[in-house]
Amino acid sequence: MSRKQTYEGRELRVHFDAGRCIHARECVLGLPGVFRPEDRPWVHPDDASAEEMTAVIRTCPSGALTYERVDGHPGESAPAVNRARLWEHGPVEIRGDLKVEGQDAGTRAVLCRCGRSKNKPWCDNSHREMGFKATGEPKAPEKPTELAERGGPLSLTPLKDGPLQVIGNLEVITGSGRTLDCSSETYLCRCGGSAKKPYCDGSHAKLNFKADGD
Ligand code: FES
Repeated sequence: MSRKQTYEGRELRVHFDAGRCIHARECVLGLPGVFRPEDRPWVHPDDASAEEMTAVIRTCPSGALTYERVDGHPGESAPAVNRARLWEHGPVEIRGDLKVEGQDAGTRAVLCRCGRSKNKPWCDNSHREMGFKATGEPKAPEKPTELAERGGPLSLTPLKDGPLQVIGNLEVITGSGRTLDCSSETYLCRCGGSAKKPYCDGSHAKLNFKADGD
């Protein structure tokens, strides 16, 4: 059975990709009358205004929920600034005009950095079971580098048994929003073993990291 579902409304078409959902619960807490996990179907797009729906869907960090406007209004656009936010002892949330392994991946994604997800490159909450430790607040430089351009396409490529290559303008920020670094090419640790998290320091080779499983 497909893990992708579509829910048709008068103003919105809502898409749900269960394979990317990490149960952040922004939807059920934001609009409990619309997102009703105990019901089938569980999404009721006409039970709130399009503006309420789109505002809540855009808070879904994983990009499991997306929408199309079918009423002629513009759809979701990429943010003006591409950002990767570190979650405390957890994954990295990336927002931008995303391509993952060459495929369009929307504007929101939560990607594994503990090395244990069974759904790489996406997070599947395995970091909780393993007790992954990685601060969301690494020391930030007093004057981070700045980019002339802060948006544009972002290409995310998990390198074989190695880091996540990010090509495109990106600001890496701490959980509280301090800027760590800005660059147009960076390599984020996804094995969980780097001493310089969130960046790769080559430890994946020493750890014999196998992205496809233990
Ligand atoms: S991917 Fe973790 S150190 Fe390189």
